[in-house]
Amino acid sequence: MNRILITSAIPYINGIKHLGNLVGSQLPADLYARYQRGRGNEVMFICATDEHGTPAELAAAKAGKPVDEFCAEMHQVQAEIARGFRLSFDKFGRSSSQRNHKLTQHFAGKLAENGLIEEVSEKQVYSHADKRFLPDRYIEGTCPNCGYDSARGDQCENCTKQLDPTDLIDPRSAISGSTELEVRETKHLYLKQSALKDKLDGWIDTKADWPVLTTSIAKKWLHDGDGLQDRGITRDLDWGVPVKKGDQDWPGMEGKVFYVWFDAPIEYIAATAELADELGEDDSFWQRWWRTDKGAEDVRYVQFMGKDNVPFHTLSFPATIMGSGEPWKLVDYIKSFNYLNYDGGQFSTSKGRGVFMDQALEILPADYWRWWLLSHAPENSDSEFTWENFQSSVNKDLADVLGNFVSRVTKFCRSKFGEEVPNGAYGPAETELIADLTAKVRAYEGHMDAMDVRKAAQELRGIWVAGNEYLQAAAPWAAFKEDPGLAAGSIRLSLNLIRLYAVLSAPFIPDAAATLTQAMNTDDTWPDDMAAALDILKPGHAFAVPDNLFAKITDDQREDWQTRFSGTRN
Ligand code: MF3
Ligand code: ZN
Repeated sequence: MNRILITSAIPYINGIKHLGNLVGSQLPADLYARYQRGRGNEVMFICATDEHGTPAELAAAKAGKPVDEFCAEMHQVQAEIARGFRLSFDKFGRSSSQRNHKLTQHFAGKLAENGLIEEVSEKQVYSHADKRFLPDRYIEGTCPNCGYDSARGDQCENCTKQLDPTDLIDPRSAISGSTELEVRETKHLYLKQSALKDKLDGWIDTKADWPVLTTSIAKKWLHDGDGLQDRGITRDLDWGVPVKKGDQDWPGMEGKVFYVWFDAPIEYIAATAELADELGEDDSFWQRWWRTDKGAEDVRYVQFMGKDNVPFHTLSFPATIMGSGEPWKLVDYIKSFNYLNYDGGQFSTSKGRGVFMDQALEILPADYWRWWLLSHAPENSDSEFTWENFQSSVNKDLADVLGNFVSRVTKFCRSKFGEEVPNGAYGPAETELIADLTAKVRAYEGHMDAMDVRKAAQELRGIWVAGNEYLQAAAPWAAFKEDPGLAAGSIRLSLNLIRLYAVLSAPFIPDAAATLTQAMNTDDTWPDDMAAALDILKPGHAFAVPDNLFAKITDDQREDWQTRFSGTRN
């Protein structure tokens, strides 16, 4: 039995995620976790909400709620939607947990001890009306280059010129609109990533098996321009992890918090500790996943994320781990994704464009979305969601190929033999099918092990198709009149195929798989030996005809949804 630690990038707390976010991390991570559990491995699957930073504070202010209350509520909302999509996290933690506070402060303390933290004095804009320092993008004013009146302190949206807040004409706070701004001196901590550059570079070089998308982004940050830069890891905000050196105060850093990207990945570890607390377990429970001196040396750690998250996971977080000088588990494999586009444009959270996770579940069950998203995952390039494509995949793959097979076999059996597996022998056609399926299932396992999500989906579909073709050729409805024994053999095999489909398909479409397992009145052991796997349901074994697995999407529905989701969410 292998031990596999799986983390999905943790979604920001400030809003409900769209389907593009889902397919970029949580969903493929869930696919992999379910598959690994199905293979009998020990899995720890972690996700959480990313609760700090200015966007969280502003979203809370907009909702008219204290930020801690807002985060607690939004965490529940996101957890509920995750359950709706059947995301099988072992723990869905919160980066604002005490566990994460302690661990984040611990790492900062170790980094300081090892000489990897530098204190830097900077000038930053302070807003009297808002009683806070403003990050560059929360200062607005007139662009000195093109005269656009809503340019941001980091960049002008109109002419794309990169700006400093002090370049703006008539600057104002984007939060309150106040012009009472002042440039003040403030001190911040920098993580000396440049000192770890060679170590990180050498480490990335040992990862020849990683997706090119992952390593190319890491290499670009390591080598482009002046190479890997030191990174500010503190902010002048109220909400966040207070800056401390372990449990000691940090002189000069009073009232400051760690930058959200410093504490967020540490939450992977903290969430596992939150799980230990919830279960009443001691520290050894989570340390055996995260400390190579406490049992994690044989753990394989895999991370899932969208490409925008890659620099933080290939460089910044490993810099934190390595720089601590302690035996924390480093990631073994990073699976990254391109973007999913929506109907000719981009999904956009800020613009409310596309289909959001809550809306998706309002119109169709999770399996429909899971199948389409995973079988069209943006692996080698960006991919696009269109309603036509969605309708055709669901109708063909799920309804025509899988659903129809199950329905034909179970209903035919009920009408001719009753609701139990009939007694019939297997002949040459069955032997041939077993050989074919053996090859296909080994290929499927290969793609799943390699996290080639689209290829795995294609292979699975091929396995469903093989059953249909077998049934079409065996034609038990015709054979039944002349030779009921022959028909009984092909129906017995086909009922066993339904069981096989349930086991193999569960990572993609867990609800349909559970329906099939229950209807077939069976378990879900993995088909290591195909001949044995197709002989598990014996003659006389009782089953039930399941309800129709998948309804087809009609043209009316498609057009209706297309219109409903064409604008922006309000
Ligand atoms: N919240 C970030 C995003 O949605 C991801 C954080 S991943 C972690 O892009 F590593 F920081 F946890
Ligand atoms: Zn401009």
